[in-house]
Amino acid sequence: MIHVPLNPQRISQVLGNGYWRVKVISETTSTQSEIINNFSPLQHGDLLIAEFQNNGRGRLDRKFIAPPMRAILFSAFIKPERFISEWGWLPLVIGASVAEALSRITGKEFLTKWPNDVLFGEKKVCGILCESNYGGVIVGVGINVNFDSSELPVDNADSLNLIMGKAIERDLVLAEVLTQISKNLELWNTSSAELISETYIKYSATIGTEVKVELGNGKVITAKALGISEVGELLLDDGSAISIGDVTHLR
Ligand code: BTN
Repeated sequence: MIHVPLNPQRISQVLGNGYWRVKVISETTSTQSEIINNFSPLQHGDLLIAEFQNNGRGRLDRKFIAPPMRAILFSAFIKPERFISEWGWLPLVIGASVAEALSRITGKEFLTKWPNDVLFGEKKVCGILCESNYGGVIVGVGINVNFDSSELPVDNADSLNLIMGKAIERDLVLAEVLTQISKNLELWNTSSAELISETYIKYSATIGTEVKVELGNGKVITAKALGISEVGELLLDDGSAISIGDVTHLR
């Protein structure tokens, strides 16, 4: 497989509307930490993309590993126009946006695992890390696009090229994903909680499923996932509302 660099001009051309200010760099530690050093002052819509991260970070203190030019790796600065108590929805909005964009591009079904892993079947193709900082949220997205199967970091990971049986143009996937994120952010900023909840549930593999949730404190809950609370928690049929945890789908 030929691994070609991203083309910033083409990305901006396809994006068109100026919502995102895009900067592409070849290598960094983590776009999450580096975005602040690339935009001054940092504003809503600033977006740092890297071809390689030598210290990519995931949720729950995990690493996020991808060889150069295989993945789409970016961090965006988002200033939600919602009350801060509602910002727990942001990771869900981003996950649903990626699932929607990938489903549209590929014609296949991509769904989220709460809060925001994006899965094809039960395999993960995209991870999302949201960190509150600088008066907003740094939203980090990593999508596996052109991995050789031997390069996948874990057994339950997948990559778009392996799913589609052909190399995928990262520029186009990136532009579609960013366009969908900006549309859904507008929807979230201007609409009711119900409307966002409907959009999230449409692309959720978790809601309605029996799940095991590992909480940070070593506690494990097994229950059915019923829905999402007004602040973005996962609601279970044993009465619990989960804000942080690792979900496994049981069926
Ligand atoms: C997860 O799967 O736990 C979240 C992974 C988030 C990875 C992205 S890649 C771009 C940004 N920079 C990072 O260091 N992490 C996020």
